[in-house]
Amino acid sequence: NRPVYYDCDTGIDDALGLIYLLDSPSVNLVGIGTVCGNTFAEQAADNNLRLLQLAGHPNIPVAIGEKRFRNRDYLSQPAPIHGANGLGNLELPAAQAKPIDKGAPEFLIELSHQYQGELEVIAVGPLTNLAKALDLDPSLPARIKQVTIMGGAFYTPGNKTPAAEANILDDPEAAQVVLAAKWPITLVGLDVTMKHFLEEKHREQMAHSDRPVAQALAEILNIYFDFYSNIYGARCCALHDPLAVAIAVGDIKAINSPLVPTVVETGDGPARGQTIADLRTQRAGYRDVPGANTRIVLDTDRPLAALITDRICN
Ligand code: BDR
Ligand code: CA
Repeated sequence: NRPVYYDCDTGIDDALGLIYLLDSPSVNLVGIGTVCGNTFAEQAADNNLRLLQLAGHPNIPVAIGEKRFRNRDYLSQPAPIHGANGLGNLELPAAQAKPIDKGAPEFLIELSHQYQGELEVIAVGPLTNLAKALDLDPSLPARIKQVTIMGGAFYTPGNKTPAAEANILDDPEAAQVVLAAKWPITLVGLDVTMKHFLEEKHREQMAHSDRPVAQALAEILNIYFDFYSNIYGARCCALHDPLAVAIAVGDIKAINSPLVPTVVETGDGPARGQTIADLRTQRAGYRDVPGANTRIVLDTDRPLAALITDRICN
């Protein structure tokens, strides 16, 4: 099975992505690292450990990663959209397992040696851990098979500011370092994640599942649905992090998605955190730019909502 490292800031959609990943038969989840973002890195690790225990995988190692961003402290309170604890305020049973005694960037480097040339990285939080790992070991990209990132926005407006998507805006300097490294990146941003919605019927299917972890996710999703209903007028949520997982594992294919050099705005103006790629020449038909290593996902071949719901419920 394909060895995967999951870097996250769990987080409601990170939690959905995690359970979906655990249920993906071709994947061997060999490690998890957490980063500050939706909540504190320590809280995100605790959330993952509780979810892993509930899902019957208590022994997957979880490393606490960066507790501050590359150039600034994580001062904010956890994002209210994910609840005070990052899991919609649901108190899951405390985990028996503890986080491992190693930082997430160091853990990623260790795994890259253990699974040299095979390790696949899925990053669904701010890119602080990945950038730190590149600082510690610039030869890391040569040992990584692929990096799939939930982050960025091109044709679609940002979600944290008009210009920027949350994961990139939280740490634009880290994102720039990660995009500049020579590893194959698939960037799953708002252009596609805002096309994949979980609806109330899917949440109810989870609530009625026999699996405790599906029932827990149904409850956790309540607060996320409330937030989205203020924007869309219906109880639903976008599947940001799960879509990155679905594309990484191959359940969903990226289509019309060219390889184009991509940079991040790191200035302090209103475009801070914007992802910029020259897509002007792509209008006549998508084609890869020679030498580029970032595939910008602009379209997908099928919907995710029913697929992830069935996977999580059974
Ligand atoms: C991203 O920001 C976080 O709130 C979500 O977990 C997702 O990773 C979406 O912009
Ligand atoms: Ca996330």
